[in-house]
Amino acid sequence: MAIKTLEQFNDQFTAFLRENPGMEQILDDGRQMLAELISNPGWLQPTLSRLVLDDAFLQSQWQSIDPYDIQLYNSPEKLYSVRAFVWEPDETYPVHDHGAWGLVGAYINRVAEKKFARLDDGSDIHHAELKPVAEAQLAPGQMTYVLPQNNGIHQMAALDNRTAVTIHVYGKPVRKGFINYFNLHNQTVQRMYPPSVNKRVYAIRTLGSIAEPWASDVLQQARQRSFPDAIKNEIEYALDKIKTLG
Ligand SMILES: [Fe+2]
Repeated sequence: MAIKTLEQFNDQFTAFLRENPGMEQILDDGRQMLAELISNPGWLQPTLSRLVLDDAFLQSQWQSIDPYDIQLYNSPEKLYSVRAFVWEPDETYPVHDHGAWGLVGAYINRVAEKKFARLDDGSDIHHAELKPVAEAQLAPGQMTYVLPQNNGIHQMAALDNRTAVTIHVYGKPVRKGFINYFNLHNQTVQRMYPPSVNKRVYAIRTLGSIAEPWASDVLQQARQRSFPDAIKNEIEYALDKIKTLG
């Protein structure tokens, strides 16, 4: 059956992933399904209309790590999600990695994609050496993909001085809770969290920079709580950092 709407895509993509396809099949058959969806104009219109005109719809939006990431569908079985990313012509977007595989298609206007390879071994969480390995321009209907973590580091940009939209399908994450932003200039890495937790992370990092007993007390208490792994790691990094303070 043809894929002309997001609903039709979701019916077919859910059935496809329930069969447990391998990565190669996802990049082949799955990619063709998304390519078919993005070759049809119009289906994003209701979402764009409601974001502008419907306050309740706007307020109900999922709070993603990147503010320009609009969630269009989240599989109830947690098999995948569909998002629209909005790229503005005058903005420079971060080089980043992903917690999951992702199929990406240009939908509205053209985008550029740069892919990077990671040269260091990743043992220092604050440091990364990257090398550009590929650069492409994608017209509406054209596709690219990313693999999890160091195998899918890339950067996107709008072309032609127009706001552009790409449609992304992400699989089940192998790493949850944050993505890495890479600073090529300083060879640094920053973990980015969703708005629902990022103030907690900033507070943890602040405590890790205060050489007072009360600061490590708070972190020790936090250690006893059942936070997700990514937050637990931040607490451990902060406690380690306190030890280095004079
Ligand atoms: Fe990405």
